[in-house]
Amino acid sequence: MPVPAVTPTTESIEGCAQIELRDVSHAFAVEGGTLPVLDELSLRVKKNELTSVVGPSGCGKSTLTRLISGLIKPDSGEIFLAGDKVVSPRPTVGMAFQNPVMLEWRNVLMNVILPLEIVAPDMPRNKREERALELLSMVSLEGFEDKRPSELSGGMRQRVSLCRALVHDPDVLILDEPFGALDAFTREELWGVMYNLRRIRPFTCLLITHDLRESVFLSDHIVVLSQRPAKVQYTTNVDLGEDRQVRDLYAPKVTGLLTELRQHIEIAQDKNR
Ligand SMILES: Nc1ncnc2c1ncn2[C@@H]1O[C@H](COP(=O)(O)OP(=O)(O)OP(=O)(O)O)[C@@H](O)[C@H]1O
Ligand SMILES: [Mg+2]
Repeated sequence: MPVPAVTPTTESIEGCAQIELRDVSHAFAVEGGTLPVLDELSLRVKKNELTSVVGPSGCGKSTLTRLISGLIKPDSGEIFLAGDKVVSPRPTVGMAFQNPVMLEWRNVLMNVILPLEIVAPDMPRNKREERALELLSMVSLEGFEDKRPSELSGGMRQRVSLCRALVHDPDVLILDEPFGALDAFTREELWGVMYNLRRIRPFTCLLITHDLRESVFLSDHIVVLSQRPAKVQYTTNVDLGEDRQVRDLYAPKVTGLLTELRQHIEIAQDKNR
């Protein structure tokens, strides 16, 4: 019996997209009309890759994260997570924001476990704790599991927030300016924590940031959005190899990339002037 010729699909050539937006447009209803925020925006993040999204303030980056997590629906276009169309909020999305909200009456361990109680209520308590403790140790917080959130520094709280966002093994992690409220040195320290976390346990991530160095250090790809209504204005790959160090960000080869990104942000900011 003849064997049919196999034509590779686009997917098998390019690698499976864990996050995919196809021509997504969205506008908010506001007093006196509508405010167009995203305009036929398309992007793909492959499994276990990290893409940063940078762009002018107010261009629609946080709206993008709410659309991907299914909290709001696009006016047109489609969003897929691990190949499934997003039609409602997904527990398979982990999220972390600039100011992590923690439950003060729960200790660190119990805050990290919280998503498992919702997503995997049948998981035995010792398994939940084992998983949370493993993550806490990956971000160097072993010994802090009994502390209350108010006993932690800002950097520690953000580490806990990363663990909580990852504890249920989400298909994707969405970070919206997670390190924006931290001082410069703590922020750099957290870049290292995040980088090592992904090396030990790879996951797919979309990172929204205003910090170009942060985007370069952590990303495989960077997307620059235009002014609102946002489109993808520019994309670039970050070819810095596997063993990245924060101090490399001050090396000449990175300066070229940072300058290029800075220029694209300026172009985006100028668009509506
Ligand atoms: N629920 C809403 N109703 C009406 N307008 C909204 C709503 N949410 C966001 N907007 C508007 O949509 C635009 C994009 O907001 P968004 O928060 O996505 O921007 P952003 O790129 O995340 O900004 P920043 O960089 O400052 O965080 C802004 O003009 C904002 O005022
Ligand atoms: Mg925002």
